[in-house]
Amino acid sequence: MASHSLALVLASLVAVSVAEPVKYLDCGSVVGKISSVDVIPCPKQPCELRKGESYTVNVTFTSDAASQTSKAIVHGVIAGVPIPFPIPNEDGCKSGIQCPIQQQKTYSYVNQLPVKTEYPSLKLVVEWELRDDNNKDYFCFKFPVQITS
Ligand SMILES: *[C@@H]1O[C@H](CO)[C@@H](O)[C@H](O)[C@H]1NC(C)=O
Repeated sequence: MASHSLALVLASLVAVSVAEPVKYLDCGSVVGKISSVDVIPCPKQPCELRKGESYTVNVTFTSDAASQTSKAIVHGVIAGVPIPFPIPNEDGCKSGIQCPIQQQKTYSYVNQLPVKTEYPSLKLVVEWELRDDNNKDYFCFKFPVQITS
């Protein structure tokens, strides 16, 4: 039994350090298709976001449309009401994507989600969009989080 619990401890340590795909809902990806969404760290779901910390979000998607620009828009949805969730850099072309974006190419969008200390401790849904030149979504996904102190 001792070796069994050691294996469990090792497994949970690995879970802390390795990117785990989060369960998300697609909320209207129009000109792209998501292949994976990673939040780092997020060892268990819903992701626990600690105040004062910053989380890495890595979205891998394939584009269906070319675009010179890309712009990220993030909302926190509390009781069904979307509230703007500020991110340090909303330019997708400065978030791991090499622009112009070409059609039928796979990109990894990587950005930070800082959790401000003044945020209240509650459960909410984070909704993340990346838009092209025509304001169409390369991706839109949402996933539940718990903000804790
Ligand atoms: C983002 O995720 C993709 C797919 O899992 C992976 O290939 C890529 O290395 C990741 N990028 C970063 C910066 O973690």
